Amino acid sequence: MKTSWVHVALAAVSFGPQIIATATFNGLELPWPTRDLEWKDVNVLSISDSHGWLLGHQHSTWPEPNYSGDYGALASFITHMRAIAREKGVDLLVVDAGDHHDGSGLVSSSKDGATKTDEIFSMIHFDVLAIGNHELYEYGPAKEVYDHQDRYHGRYITSNTNITVEKDGEWVSKPIGERYVKFRTETGRQVTAFGVIFNSQGANLTIQPPSAMVKEQWFLEAIESPPDYFLLVGHMPVRNDPSAQWHSVFKAIRKKHPHIPILIFGGHDHTRDCRQYDDHSIAVVPGRYLETVAFTSTSLPDAKDPSLPLNLARRFIDANRHSYMYHTRTTPETFDTTLGHRISTYLLDLASSLNISDSLGTAPHDLFLSRVPAGHPNHVNTVWTEQVIPTVLRDPKRIGKKVVMMNAGSLRFDLFRGEFNRNDELTISPFASAFAYTRMKAGLARQITLQMNLNGATKFAPFSMDTIGRTVKEEDQRVERIYRKNLRDQWVEFEMRSASGPLKLSEQMPFSSAVSKGLTMGYVTRDSCPGIGDDVEHIPVPYSNAQVDFIQSPFPDAHDDELVDVVVMDFTLDDFFIAVKMLDPLSNLGFEDMKPYAEGISVNVMWGLYASQAWQG
Ligand SMILES: *[C@@H]1O[C@H](CO)[C@@H](O)[C@H](O)[C@H]1NC(C)=O
Ligand SMILES: *[C@@H]1O[C@H](CO)[C@@H](O)[C@H](O)[C@H]1NC(C)=O
Ligand SMILES: *[C@@H]1O[C@H](CO)[C@@H](O)[C@H](O)[C@H]1NC(C)=O
Ligand SMILES: *[C@@H]1O[C@H](CO)[C@@H](O)[C@H](O)[C@H]1NC(C)=O
Ligand SMILES: [Zn+2]
Ligand SMILES: [Zn+2]
Repeated sequence: MKTSWVHVALAAVSFGPQIIATATFNGLELPWPTRDLEWKDVNVLSISDSHGWLLGHQHSTWPEPNYSGDYGALASFITHMRAIAREKGVDLLVVDAGDHHDGSGLVSSSKDGATKTDEIFSMIHFDVLAIGNHELYEYGPAKEVYDHQDRYHGRYITSNTNITVEKDGEWVSKPIGERYVKFRTETGRQVTAFGVIFNSQGANLTIQPPSAMVKEQWFLEAIESPPDYFLLVGHMPVRNDPSAQWHSVFKAIRKKHPHIPILIFGGHDHTRDCRQYDDHSIAVVPGRYLETVAFTSTSLPDAKDPSLPLNLARRFIDANRHSYMYHTRTTPETFDTTLGHRISTYLLDLASSLNISDSLGTAPHDLFLSRVPAGHPNHVNTVWTEQVIPTVLRDPKRIGKKVVMMNAGSLRFDLFRGEFNRNDELTISPFASAFAYTRMKAGLARQITLQMNLNGATKFAPFSMDTIGRTVKEEDQRVERIYRKNLRDQWVEFEMRSASGPLKLSEQMPFSSAVSKGLTMGYVTRDSCPGIGDDVEHIPVPYSNAQVDFIQSPFPDAHDDELVDVVVMDFTLDDFFIAVKMLDPLSNLGFEDMKPYAEGISVNVMWGLYASQAWQG
């Protein structure tokens, strides 16, 4: 069964005391949550790292359907949640921790698409937004946030991020959004909010390290008077914080106010995560790509003894209509709001005007990045190197033997069976990387990819927040690594849990057999906050540890002294030169020795070219 752009197929079934619709995918029903949310005095919905996934996840391979709610459905959910909060007389705030750009087709197909997506994003009324590194790599997107602050009604907070702009013929450095905001909630509670990001840098952008920011006079003055609670939203992970970026802000406030709640909403590492820095604080990361909406709640300090620990909780909600309806006690008839409808319509119109929903072919199989080991026929890299590259990457001037070398990180999402469109193509790889070649003896060329893989493991340190000097792609790859490491941890955990029980699952276990055992795939979050964080309990998505950093097309049949064309993706050239030098210390191969190969072809159009040839009919 095909899913439409926005709405999953709805069929009325009986559910509890009322009739609600259920969404089905390939005949499988979306799961329902089973536990109510724990509403407390202060409640916060948070999202982060949406990277343009406003249309929701549209493929029917599990667990994608769990994230099928689009941004319009999220808007409806938020409207109902705000009404519930009003009824209960408690606070409900909605926050976002940045990274709107670079990802799905809406934001990656064109600049105009990114601008219009930003406009739609601002249709949800956030209480606080923070900026992400993907808004700061280039001057343009940062300037756009600066120029359109009115969209966010004074709640886009960039406490440590300045932009240099021309004003009356002079260049001046100014905060992109607000430096901090003090506001009163509907229930009358006083909030002091900041928006921060890890230190990095961009053209005419100044990002101050959080540890330096907290020494500034304006910051000390802003935290002087005690609010009912502090709200810190920022584009930084909440664990593995070696340069203590969150911690420096937390400590600066805690030093002055020992018992005031500090609610922290982070992002950037694309995981579901939760930490408590003390018993009067909670720090939550709500995943990525509009897969998760985190609900975080806390009591306020006891009036008689404010030192008593707070009652805190977090829940990671799968972003789909079932979750949203369950938690707002709505039905398919009452769920969609006018705003939600309008957002969904705008998104469909935008996708259509960008041509990203036009079909390029029909993918015959699911292809995975990490559910199967490298070399598996269903691995994205296998089809890429053995079929896509040989079919599509051809230079009419170079018809001899060749090998093509690339970094695996240039492909960054699974490719699902069924309709394949420009949106999917950009999701798999939005990178405009091109190719260059040199001539080399086959004997040397044969060893290079292996050497790059041997080097590869050392190139990206396990975790460093220091991104100064990194390129967009390096940073993306680093985030992808952290994300996959978390997946791997989930899987190891699952294997350990299942080892003793009757259940034996191999890595390739089809989803349907898990379903027949009453299990469904999804996120299995292991964080350090008390209780179970996932709204719907899942078994983890399979993960194979056997992955490589660099890949190549099949090596041609050539004897060692024969010269072959060695074609290299431009992003991989540094690693390539280093590997060649290690294998042949006398080589001085460098950029000047490389010539363009198949000019006009870049990675972000190659799957589409392949689909238009191989995936028709
Ligand atoms: C989707 O939800 C179903 C129902 O809980 C669950 O079994 C499945 O694991 C979820 N999939 C993902 C990807 O979260
Ligand atoms: C940011 O801009 C403000 C206002 O112009 C200025 O006072 C401050 O020094 C700037 N901060 C940095 C780190 O450049
Ligand atoms: C950056 O600022 C300088 C002045 O300091 C200016 O000349 C230049 O045009 C600016 N660059 C951009 C991309 O705005
Ligand atoms: C979309 O396709 C139509 C018809 O082929 C074309 O006129 C239009 O320019 C395309 N738009 C974009 C943004 O590529
Ligand atoms: Zn991100
Ligand atoms: Zn980021």
